[in-house]
Amino acid sequence: MSQKTALITGVTGQDGAVLADFLIKKGYVVHGMRDYSAVPDQSRIAHLEDLKLHYGDMTDGGNIYRLLETIKPDEIYNLAAMSHVHVSFDVPESTANINAMGPLRILEAMRTMGVQNDMRLYQASSSEMFGRAPAPQNEDTKFEPCSPYGTAKLYAYWSVRNYRDAYGLYAANGILFNHESPLRGEEFVTRKITCAVCEIEAGLRQKIKLGNLNAMRDWGYAQDYMEGAWQILQQDRPDDYVLATGKSYTVRDFVERAFAVIGKQIIWDGEGIQEQGRDKITGDILVEIDPALFRPTEVHALIGDASKAKRILGWQPKISFDDLVADMMQADRIMKPQINVA
Ligand code: GDD
Repeated sequence: MSQKTALITGVTGQDGAVLADFLIKKGYVVHGMRDYSAVPDQSRIAHLEDLKLHYGDMTDGGNIYRLLETIKPDEIYNLAAMSHVHVSFDVPESTANINAMGPLRILEAMRTMGVQNDMRLYQASSSEMFGRAPAPQNEDTKFEPCSPYGTAKLYAYWSVRNYRDAYGLYAANGILFNHESPLRGEEFVTRKITCAVCEIEAGLRQKIKLGNLNAMRDWGYAQDYMEGAWQILQQDRPDDYVLATGKSYTVRDFVERAFAVIGKQIIWDGEGIQEQGRDKITGDILVEIDPALFRPTEVHALIGDASKAKRILGWQPKISFDDLVADMMQADRIMKPQINVA
């Protein structure tokens, strides 16, 4: 069989880097789209010598068309997004331009090029689209997004389904619940916590400030999820799949597990924005609440039901929540003190 070619948008992010590594190891020719930035961060992909990089922008339809026309990828993984839910409340228009119109531009390019099964699109849909819909959530759950990020992702989700039905394109949605790794950006809560706990251990800071400790998330491991994304595009017919662990933990649980790794037990006292987390032995305040970190509307509980992916793809996550926390902590215990001392 001839070598396959893939194009990954958003290749410099956690998922892009994990997927590029995975596909290169599978023998793919992998092209990655990165956006122009005055301060580029390519740290996650620096080791991937075989990755072919291109400048691109999800708000530029001509650019997207030319990339598809030149590269002619067998598989496109659209991972590029304005990915921070809280920030999307500040920049709703540009979030919609990137997260909703961006995938539409890819679909339009595919439609114009007349590709059907020859070019397959994976769209990174998100459990944030479920918003306030009661858990557990699966492919049949009614979407109730409650952030500009979620509404934009939902537009893209339906565009994928519409272009599939209307023009016979091979386009599939992976509805992924939260997935983390040591490559996760520090603006997301898991990595924010593991970085801060390791800095506290190294004596570089005293405490961490967080928002809603009671939000529940279904946290899996990014490597498992990118393998699932690839499996979604290997099916004969395009379809939509939830990828999740089926287990949910609070932000508070994550905090307690991360501190436990450095031998600290957290005792909570106070309520609401007055709540504090203290070191059980020393009484030091290690966790405080910052009201600025609360979102105007919050997704309270995400618990995914990935039974369709298990049944059809044979997919199931391998890494447990405890192993995820341990892995992220182990990486940051090595990295964090060095970064700050340098
Ligand atoms: N980021 C952040 N920072 N979140 C906090 C904080 C904080 O200081 N304190 C509490 N949280 C809570 C948020 O309110 C949210 O309920 C939860 O921690 C998780 O927040 P994030 O890690 O920012 O992730 P997310 O769930 O909003 O979104 C992620 O998962 C989606 C899939 O469900 C992102 O990766 C999205 O791009 C992705 O689509």
